[in-house]
Amino acid sequence: PTALSVALLGGGTVGSQVARLLTEDADLFAERVGAPLHLTGIAVRSLDRPRQAAVDPALYTTDAEALVEDADIVVELMGGIEPARSLIERALRRGAVVVTGNKALLARHGAQLSALAAEHGGSLDGEAAVAAAIPILRPLRDSLAGDRVHRVMGILNGTTNFILDRMDTDGAAYDEVLAEAQRLGYAEADPTADVQGHDAAAKVAILAGLAFGGSFTIDQVDCTGIAAITAQDSAAAAEAGLVVKLLGIAERQVDGAVLRVHPTLVPREHPLAAVRGAFNAVFVEAENAGELMFYGPGAGGRETASAVLGDVVTAARHRVLGSAMRADRAGATAGPPALPIT
Ligand code: HSE
Repeated sequence: PTALSVALLGGGTVGSQVARLLTEDADLFAERVGAPLHLTGIAVRSLDRPRQAAVDPALYTTDAEALVEDADIVVELMGGIEPARSLIERALRRGAVVVTGNKALLARHGAQLSALAAEHGGSLDGEAAVAAAIPILRPLRDSLAGDRVHRVMGILNGTTNFILDRMDTDGAAYDEVLAEAQRLGYAEADPTADVQGHDAAAKVAILAGLAFGGSFTIDQVDCTGIAAITAQDSAAAAEAGLVVKLLGIAERQVDGAVLRVHPTLVPREHPLAAVRGAFNAVFVEAENAGELMFYGPGAGGRETASAVLGDVVTAARHRVLGSAMRADRAGATAGPPALPIT
């Protein structure tokens, strides 16, 4: 079968892991997809930075537009609105498969981009955009499609959970812990997005769209971050049998939904209180399914790459199956007429 070309946009924490895995696990992906995936290039802002050792240095380019031009699959991990949005639109207009981890973009323009994908016979997936390695978008969109979700509530930012957890367990100083979260690759390029709750707010908007249907944007999320939380607050909460967690909450209402992010006092016995370090958890309440909890690594290059590659393999597999079926149908029309059913 013909190889599918993959253009990777972004060579940062997640992009470099995706590039490494596409190279090292090429055989595995070829087997799962039914055709080889061929990484044609990695678009980066500058060629000067040190890069992933496992990846051929000749793959790096600063010309993202040329790279996107004829790729079957575009994986966007650059973050931010532009140029990510224009590059994705260009790919979708050609009917390409697009996989993104870009929460900011999906929380503003997800609905329009999905419509564009549908219009041109392409696809757009972003499992990695919310809670990194945890499968949560597909379960909300597909597995719960026959139910009514009433509320989604979660720890959606690894960096702030890491900070709050360390404040809770060893009274660590905020700045020190934030620097450590950055070193470990959990924090956003601009960590104020984590600390002020904007990263979690983007994820709440994306979750609400899938849980309740319709289109929600980050502007509809009422948001307070953790900057005002002190070691004293954390100690006082502990004394009362509580723990401070930054929660993102989306609740269905009669006429729409209420979306918010804020520090919350959680009872120690609640399952969300047990979420430690940079882990995330999403607690879902549905009419018939009842209470569900999805738990796992919510940040990190390799962990997020797992979600990206899950989307890539799934979409690529559909593409390969789709062309096989079209070829079959074409063969059937050209061949002898089917026997009449007697
Ligand atoms: N900065 C984000 C976090 C990365 O800390 O959760 C995953 O979106």
